[in-house]
Amino acid sequence: MSLKVLGISTSPRLKGNSDLLLREALAGAESAGAQVEYLRLCDLKIGPCVECNCCYTTGKCRVEDDYQIVLEKMLDADRLIFATPIFFMTVCSQAKMLIDRGQCLWASKHILKKPLFETGQRDRRAMIIAVGGSKSTKQFDSIRLTMKAYFDVLDIKYVANLFVNKVDARGAIKTHPSALKEAFRLGKELASADTPLPEKPIDVMLT
Ligand SMILES: Cc1cc2nc3c(=O)[nH]c(=O)nc-3n(C[C@H](O)[C@H](O)[C@H](O)COP(=O)(O)O)c2cc1C
Repeated sequence: MSLKVLGISTSPRLKGNSDLLLREALAGAESAGAQVEYLRLCDLKIGPCVECNCCYTTGKCRVEDDYQIVLEKMLDADRLIFATPIFFMTVCSQAKMLIDRGQCLWASKHILKKPLFETGQRDRRAMIIAVGGSKSTKQFDSIRLTMKAYFDVLDIKYVANLFVNKVDARGAIKTHPSALKEAFRLGKELASADTPLPEKPIDVMLT
């Protein structure tokens, strides 16, 4: 059976740089025989965590919006590619709203002691794509930390990242062939069933 790969584009900018890299990565995954799905967060209604802490007793988020749809898809996927522009040294607010809603998973696991998956560990792997306009490389550290914490609550292994900086104008990534090539390559590798699990995340930084 082919692997299910979900790509989540969080940029508010239509056909933005991180979005274009995500599409390349998904094309790479498809070339490896995966079943791919693309989601753009801005097409959905996802609000922030309101810190009601209801999930501490139910394990579920009580905010009613499209979050459950995205969560279901994320839990069903074998591979996740999460793409974000860098805003003020970290993920964009659309991405952060989705991430913070993951508190219900954290509560379910750590407070209610309910495992996310009933039948043991699944081989789930995730990759990050992030694009910034500045020359800072320090900003990638905050992306790494936040995404690692999020992938941990999702029970998915952080296996690769593609970080690109000095790309600012919309679509400027199209003139960065090595970034497009790397996105395709990493997407293909992520979706190849026989790729061994790396000991630490494959770290591709184009600076
Ligand atoms: C609100 C805002 C904050 C930004 N902050 C940063 C930043 O901290 N570091 C950086 O390198 N670029 C920053 N940028 C530039 C974007 O990261 C850059 O334009 C990127 O290519 C956008 O990706 P996208 O087209 O996928 O949305 C910022 C842009 C906006 C609109």
